[in-house]
Amino acid sequence: MSESQSPTTPSIRGERILVTAALPYANGPIHIGHLVEYIQTDIWVRFQKLLGRRCIFVCADDTHGTAIMLRARKEGRSEAELIAEMQAHHERDFAGFDIQFDNYGSTNCSENLELCQQFWSALREAGLVVEREVSQLFDTQAGTFLADRFVKGTCPKCHAPNQYGDNCDKCGATYSPVDLLDPKSTLTDSVPVLRNSVHLFVELEKLHGFLEDWALSDGHLQGEVANYLKGHFLGEPLRDWDISRPAPYFGFEIPDSPGNYWYVWFDAPIGYIASTWQWCKRHDEPLSDWWQNPETEVHHFIGKDITYFHTLFWPGMLKTAGFNLPTQVHIHGFLNVAGEKMSKSKGTFVTAETYLKYLDPAYLRYYFASKLGPRLDDLDLNLDEFVNKINADLVGKVVNLASRCARFVQQTGLANEYPDDGGLFESASQAGEQIAIAYQQCDYAKAMRLIMELADRANPFVENAQPWVLAKDETRGGEVQAICTVGLNLFRQLAIYLAPVLPKLAGQCGSLFGEPITSWDQSRQPVLGTKINTFEHMLARVKKEDVASMIEDSKDDLVNAPASNVAKWDDSDEALLAEPLAETCTIDDFVKVDLRVARIVAAEQVPDARKLLKLTLSLGGDHTRTVFAGIKAAYEPEKLIGRLVVCVANLAPRQMKFGLSEGMVTAAGSGGTEVYLLSPDSGAQPGQRVH
Ligand code: MSP
Ligand code: ZN
Repeated sequence: MSESQSPTTPSIRGERILVTAALPYANGPIHIGHLVEYIQTDIWVRFQKLLGRRCIFVCADDTHGTAIMLRARKEGRSEAELIAEMQAHHERDFAGFDIQFDNYGSTNCSENLELCQQFWSALREAGLVVEREVSQLFDTQAGTFLADRFVKGTCPKCHAPNQYGDNCDKCGATYSPVDLLDPKSTLTDSVPVLRNSVHLFVELEKLHGFLEDWALSDGHLQGEVANYLKGHFLGEPLRDWDISRPAPYFGFEIPDSPGNYWYVWFDAPIGYIASTWQWCKRHDEPLSDWWQNPETEVHHFIGKDITYFHTLFWPGMLKTAGFNLPTQVHIHGFLNVAGEKMSKSKGTFVTAETYLKYLDPAYLRYYFASKLGPRLDDLDLNLDEFVNKINADLVGKVVNLASRCARFVQQTGLANEYPDDGGLFESASQAGEQIAIAYQQCDYAKAMRLIMELADRANPFVENAQPWVLAKDETRGGEVQAICTVGLNLFRQLAIYLAPVLPKLAGQCGSLFGEPITSWDQSRQPVLGTKINTFEHMLARVKKEDVASMIEDSKDDLVNAPASNVAKWDDSDEALLAEPLAETCTIDDFVKVDLRVARIVAAEQVPDARKLLKLTLSLGGDHTRTVFAGIKAAYEPEKLIGRLVVCVANLAPRQMKFGLSEGMVTAAGSGGTEVYLLSPDSGAQPGQRVH
């Protein structure tokens, strides 16, 4: 496609295109939910570059805030060390998914500090900053103010216990943490105290008119987003935005307000500019070309949860400081797996790292592309559909086209003239325009549909011509060469159209033809008269077992869950209160009790006993014990056989009505059906002592 034929949407006018994806928080691993966004953005950028546009893609780790501070403290190391490690992991994960940034930085860098100061002065000069006292809960043990999520207590409205500081999930009420009844810090379990401190606020309402104009005009936002803002925020006065946090806080200290730090959401979006600046320094270009120039377009890609920050605060800050406003903020929905929110217990909270242990990143890139439209709908990862789609589309229709043709022209090379293919190449070449428009508009689902339609037309051509049959007849070499020249060129068109989604496949196609794919235009000209390199395996079928193993493996991730997730378990303290802790004992007292791993080798009912089952425990070899355990109401004997338990092995034998009991199995619970046998993790062996 030549420059004049580029897909033109109103948004593309600039000489330079700057693209960002949201900066992932440094306090957690990259997971497949995040990848929706980074893959979506990477595809768009690769598409722009393939069209020959000047486009750069910048991102960074979002490093500041309380969560990082607390985690570093807990792990006994500096924040700097922690965020460096997280960033290395993030970059490794992104590279593993072929997400290619032109610069990947960190919000904790000197460029960002300098820019934050610049933005801050501009806000001050514009008279938008006011100071106000704020009462906030303070954890005296942890020595920190508590963000909403670090306080739990009883809902002031419906009195439901164990609710977070910002809203109640029983009755839906929203409130401030200071309104909670019986507040407790989730960090230390202590009762927090109210403390006053000065906070700095940005008076966003003063920018109301500007923000309304910006948000509702020129297609900066998707229609549904503009409507949402109009209905929810812009219809009333905008609230002042609290952008400071008192020490201790991990972030940048505010120069003219010592002891106060910029709230993470102040410096995070400025990180987009800081990351661009690092790129500019490396390429010797002025930052102003990219951020203070009407010829540059700025495109942000974000998830719907952070809409407010990017469509109101951020444009307000940019406007005040004199930087380019976003040309478009592209907002996507959330990823569900099998119709539900990703869940650690179900193994659907899959990290990038775990995915890559089992599956090819190309699968997920294609699958997400086939699901992503220009709207904000959530998307669902359905694992059966995932397997079927990859195998049917990519392996069955695309790669197969090449693998079935390549070997028959290994000797002869491609024909010198393009054979008659009934118009297939030409119509696929024309379809390029529609496909490009779909990419440009972030309607990748449509682009993938159009490409697969082309594949559906290309495959029957080869199937009907059956080059593998003709190849057996030496006199028909010319025909075979013609058919395969068509088949391979149709494959190449598909690979070019898919190149933004499947860069590796485009690379493999380039190697096959001995000519790399570097431009969208290449889809218009067949390759002729050259030799074809040996066909190398391109993409394996997805195996269901590998998907299952990935899910299974993800269940273990619970153990490695970041500390900030601990607050998610709102276990009640009922059991503890019902049975207060026993008197302190010494280690010597403890070792008197010899706890051993044992296997239940037999289990039977005891006639006449209301509560008891008779268990035969093996400690390995022929060392067995008979014990009578009060677990009849909770367990069926057949189901117990074979399982490992923990038993008290040196308990003095006791004569009971039904026989001699030679020990005890350990269990939790209050009795009756509320009995839970303890079992060791797999790997433990009968006879091992429990220390
Ligand atoms: N640090 C902020 C962004 C600052 S931008 C100046 C943040 N980080 S995040 O790690 O929580 O999320 C990064 C991006 O991933 C966000 O755009 C978010 O919407 C997106 N996603 C996180 N989980 C997601 C899904 N389950 N599904 C789709 N996108 C998701 O927010
Ligand atoms: Zn409530």
